[in-house]
Amino acid sequence: MRILLAGGAGYIGSHTAVCLLQAGHDVTIVDNYANSCPEAVRRIEQIAGRKADCFQADVKDRDTLLRIFREKPVDCVIHLAGLKAVGESVRNPIEYYRNNIDTTLSLLEVMRETGVHDFVFSSSATVYGEENPIPYLETMKKGSCSSPYGWTKSMMEQILTDAAAADPELSVVLLRYFNPIGAHPSGLIGEDPQGIPNNLMPYIAQVAVGRREHLTIFGDDYDTPDGTCRRDYIHVCDLAEGHRLAVEYAHEHRGVEIFNLGTGKPCSVLELVHAFEEASGVSIPYVIGPRRDGDLPQFWANADKARAVLGWQAGRGIGEMCRDTWNWQKNNPEGYRGGRI
Ligand code: UFG
Repeated sequence: MRILLAGGAGYIGSHTAVCLLQAGHDVTIVDNYANSCPEAVRRIEQIAGRKADCFQADVKDRDTLLRIFREKPVDCVIHLAGLKAVGESVRNPIEYYRNNIDTTLSLLEVMRETGVHDFVFSSSATVYGEENPIPYLETMKKGSCSSPYGWTKSMMEQILTDAAAADPELSVVLLRYFNPIGAHPSGLIGEDPQGIPNNLMPYIAQVAVGRREHLTIFGDDYDTPDGTCRRDYIHVCDLAEGHRLAVEYAHEHRGVEIFNLGTGKPCSVLELVHAFEEASGVSIPYVIGPRRDGDLPQFWANADKARAVLGWQAGRGIGEMCRDTWNWQKNNPEGYRGGRI
C-alpha cells in the first residue's frame, strides 16, 4: 500500500515511516517542517534502506495536497500533522484551532475528491479528561480537556466520526496515544523539541547531555505512591508498530474504531528519573517545584482492545525506553541541528 504521512518528518511520524517502509509499504511524507526538518527524512531513508517520497507543504493547503494525492495515488492517510504544545495552546488558542482543525478538514476534502477511504488519526489520551476513572477504556465517554490542544484532538475525533457516519465507504481509526518516549535503537532518529522541552523525557535527556542544569519536578504532593504524577510511557517504536497495524485494520474495515496505545502500566516522574539514571549511568539533578496547571495526578491505559483486535502489544519496557532515548540524545546532543552522522 502507499501511505501518506501528514507530519511524517516529526517525532512519531519518522518512527512510523521507518516501520512502514520496513514492512514493504510505500510512504509519502508531507511536512512543512514547522517542528521537524529534512535531515529526519534523510535518516528515515538511511535506516529503512529505501526512499520515501517527500513533499515540503502545509497540510492545510488543499490545492497542494490535491496535486500530491494525484501525483502519488494514496491508499491510506495517517494524520500526524499538528501543533502539540499544551501550554502554547493556552496562549494561542486560535492558532491551534485553525491549524489542527484545518489540516484535518483539508485531508478529508482531498481524500473525498480522490477516492481515498482509509484514515488513521493521531489522537491523545487527553480526550478522556479528568472525569473518567483510570485505567482509561475506549468505551468511556470523552471528558473535558485541560487545554485548547486537547480540545482540538477531541473535536477532530468528532469531525472524523461525523464524516464516517455520512460516508459508508470511509474507514477511520482513532489512535489515542498515552506518553510516547524513546527513540529508534539506531540512535539516528528521536525527539528533537525546539527550545525548552515541555515534556518530561526530552527534558531529562537534555539535563543528562548537559544542555540544562537540572530538572524541575512539578509537584511531589499528589495522591500517588511517591507523590509525583504517574503516566503510561510507551516506546515510540511500539507506537509506530501500532500505526502499521491500524493501517492494515483500516483497509479491511469500514466505520470508526478507537484504540488506546499504551502499556497499561503507570510510572511516576521519580521512577522515570531513576530508570533513566540506571540506563544511562548519568545522574539527573532535580528540584521539586510547584504543580503545573492542568496536570492530572495519574492516568494510564487499558490496552486490551488493541491487543485483542489489532494483535498489538507494547513489548518494550521503561529500561529500553530510557536506553534508546539516551542513545539518541548522546549521539545527537543538539538534535538534528548537529548535522549528519
Ligand atoms: N514533568 C515534570 N517536569 C518537567 C516536565 C514534566 O515534572 O519538566 C511532569 C509533569 O508534571 C507530568 C509528567 O512529568 O506529571 C509528564 O509530563 P509530560 O509533559 O511529559 O506529559 P503529559 O502527560 O503532561 O502530556 C502528555 C502529552 C500531551 C497530552 C497529555 C495527555 O505531551 O500531548 O499527555 O494525554 F495531551
